[in-house]
Amino acid sequence: KFYTEEELYRPKFHFTPRQNWMNDPNGMFYLNGKYHLFFQHYPDSTVWGPMHWGHAISTDLVAWKEQPIALYPDEKGYVFSGSAVVDVNNTSGFASGTNPPVIAMFTYHDPKLEKEGKIDYQSQGIAFSLDEGKTWTKYSGNPVIKNPRIKDFRDPKVSWDPIHNQWVLVLAAGDESMFYKSNNLIDWEFLSYFGKDIGAHGGIWECPDFFSMSVEGTNEIKWILIQSLVSGGPNGGTGTQYFIGDFDGKTFTLDTAFKKELQDKKVMWIDYGRDNYAGVTWSNIPANDGRTLFLGWMSNWEYAEKVPTNKWRSSMTIVRALRLIKNDNHYSIVSQPIKEINNYISKSINKGDFNVEGETVLVRKPELDFSSLDIQFKIKNIKKDIYTFSFFNSFGDSLKFGINNKEKFFFLDRTKSGNLSFSVKFAPIVSIAPIKEEFINIDIEVLLDKTSIEIFYNNGKTVMTEIFFPQKPIEAFSVKSEKFNIEIEGMTINQLKFD
Ligand code: FRU
Repeated sequence: KFYTEEELYRPKFHFTPRQNWMNDPNGMFYLNGKYHLFFQHYPDSTVWGPMHWGHAISTDLVAWKEQPIALYPDEKGYVFSGSAVVDVNNTSGFASGTNPPVIAMFTYHDPKLEKEGKIDYQSQGIAFSLDEGKTWTKYSGNPVIKNPRIKDFRDPKVSWDPIHNQWVLVLAAGDESMFYKSNNLIDWEFLSYFGKDIGAHGGIWECPDFFSMSVEGTNEIKWILIQSLVSGGPNGGTGTQYFIGDFDGKTFTLDTAFKKELQDKKVMWIDYGRDNYAGVTWSNIPANDGRTLFLGWMSNWEYAEKVPTNKWRSSMTIVRALRLIKNDNHYSIVSQPIKEINNYISKSINKGDFNVEGETVLVRKPELDFSSLDIQFKIKNIKKDIYTFSFFNSFGDSLKFGINNKEKFFFLDRTKSGNLSFSVKFAPIVSIAPIKEEFINIDIEVLLDKTSIEIFYNNGKTVMTEIFFPQKPIEAFSVKSEKFNIEIEGMTINQLKFD
């Protein structure tokens, strides 16, 4: 049978543009029952080009409807990544009528200046919408932050700082972050730098995010800086690190224990897989929801423009809820898929508790349609062994993941997952994530779409996200141990259904 690209590769429940190129998520905000997602978009080709902001809307963060393009490039340049906030108190003065203005802040990238060899070709501009994000007007006084003679100066992320009563902005400058503040979203004052000699610096920094969060189960507040970097990620290419600390309204200072860990050369990564980049959080999430909602671009600059799709290029991760947890005076961010995904379960196969020796197939087609699954289970009494789970088809393609508890790492192996020939950078090696703490039992959740896998170990303490391109659809799921039994508890395989 010949499979079309749509049948084989178009994700079932991950946002992808109807056609052509997409990269970073931009300007996500919530307003009046709708979640907005904008994205770096080149509507004329399947590779990167003059940047626009595409737009999509969802009422449940799972099903997205693409909208007309929100922002077009203009004589000041391409519209690079940025953010959006709902200006509830009209601090900007852009309101007219009853709707609160929504302010988007983005980077103007001027290709003319770049060509002339100038260094100051990136600056920050704003646009406002008075119809809940449908149409946008660029501010006539742009740029609102001029380039201070820094070559890579971009990706402004604005948020309301409720503790110091100010708008706070973080942007990436070279391989550091810069903070600014404002009272009206138009006039910005430089506050401080962060990042020299700390964290991963394998490439320039991009797409930061900065917000406060309370430590789960307490009233303690910490500030989180999320900072993507273009190379030097945990398994090669792009990756996203995070920092935890305090903010006095001016300067971000690392938490002492966290700083010590970083000095031991351990970078904290949001995701250890190769395909979660430039992720940022939603603004204006209602207090009675209270979640910190995050989504990333599910690709990697090492091969993003070459992946084997011709109608569209790239998709986003599933939306994740971030939580800040504290164990033994050590803080970390964990992420899990949003609960809304459960509304799409059409059938559940309950495998219950069982022990397996050697390799065993757990489910096969036609019992399930492997194009969209949510699998949850626990492994108990983990031994010094290697546990391998595999999604495979009769073509010989297999996508493997699991735990090597002999050498202490989680792994995700797409080296035999199908079409790899489009780029030598795609699957040169197996991706790994270190096991940092001892455990006897572990909870695992796996989301499988046609061309992506997202694995959440230990309730989201270690996450691995990657894309893959099988030559025909996946048909079965198996588990294997090398030496001892593997004890599985409460395995539920949920079929997800999307029309
Ligand atoms: C990150 C990035 C951003 C930039 C955008 C351009 O993937 O390089 O820094 O704003 O993409 O599309």
